[in-house]
Amino acid sequence: MMNNKIKKIIKKKNKSKIVCLTAYSKNIAEIVDNHADIVLVGDSLGSVLYNYNTTRKVNLKMMLEHTKSVRMGVKKSLLVIDMPYNTYRNKSEALKNSKLAIKETKCDAVKVEGGVRVRHIVRHLVKNKIPVMGHIGITPQTIKGKFKSVGKTEKERKKLFKDAKALEDSGAFGIVLECTYSDISKKISKLLKIPTIGIGASVHCDGQVLVTDDILGLTDAKIKFVKKYVNIKKIINLAVSKFKSEVKSKKYPTKKYSY
Ligand code: KIV
Repeated sequence: MMNNKIKKIIKKKNKSKIVCLTAYSKNIAEIVDNHADIVLVGDSLGSVLYNYNTTRKVNLKMMLEHTKSVRMGVKKSLLVIDMPYNTYRNKSEALKNSKLAIKETKCDAVKVEGGVRVRHIVRHLVKNKIPVMGHIGITPQTIKGKFKSVGKTEKERKKLFKDAKALEDSGAFGIVLECTYSDISKKISKLLKIPTIGIGASVHCDGQVLVTDDILGLTDAKIKFVKKYVNIKKIINLAVSKFKSEVKSKKYPTKKYSY
């Protein structure tokens, strides 16, 4: 049986764009929840918060703790947890870890990377009532070498179509398309009944996802598809420096802030 939030998201296809953003903790999640359809606790937290050079270093325990915090801030959006590397290598491992993730964090769904390669795993999870989001194109857990766009060669294009179809046929309710060429994103989005959520994959996707820390200007990401909507570092810097100068000059705390 499909959760109502997921049904609503699927219904948005061809009607209204789906908004997805990441959150790693309660305070940001509370704000994002007011605007997003999907809040994703992405394993991008490995590079964003822990400076890891690969998401492969992120483990399940870290994902569970961050998702528990995010859960406290998410009231209306669909909450999705990224299953980290080496937690879904076979059907039983995937089911055991996904069940644990849902039980411990009360999230609504899991996300796994891969297409044809993980189709049997997606099918097994869905059969066991675990809603699954797919992720193809650039898949950071398995990428070798530099990040680049996907879909340039005929071989890559064919693989993307096969991967997308395999995920839909296995029961995934949506698919993240990362860094796929515009025309490919358009064709895949037309081909599938389930929504595509793009990241660097053009306006032709059914929705868009970005890392919240990137759009806030909390990271120094210099990636073509990242748009910085505010320079929050500047604002934080101003507040912290005002606090410092008031402490030094004994302007803070005044009587108002004292017992
Ligand atoms: O880890 C992540 O945050 C992601 C999204 C950016 C799609 O997978």
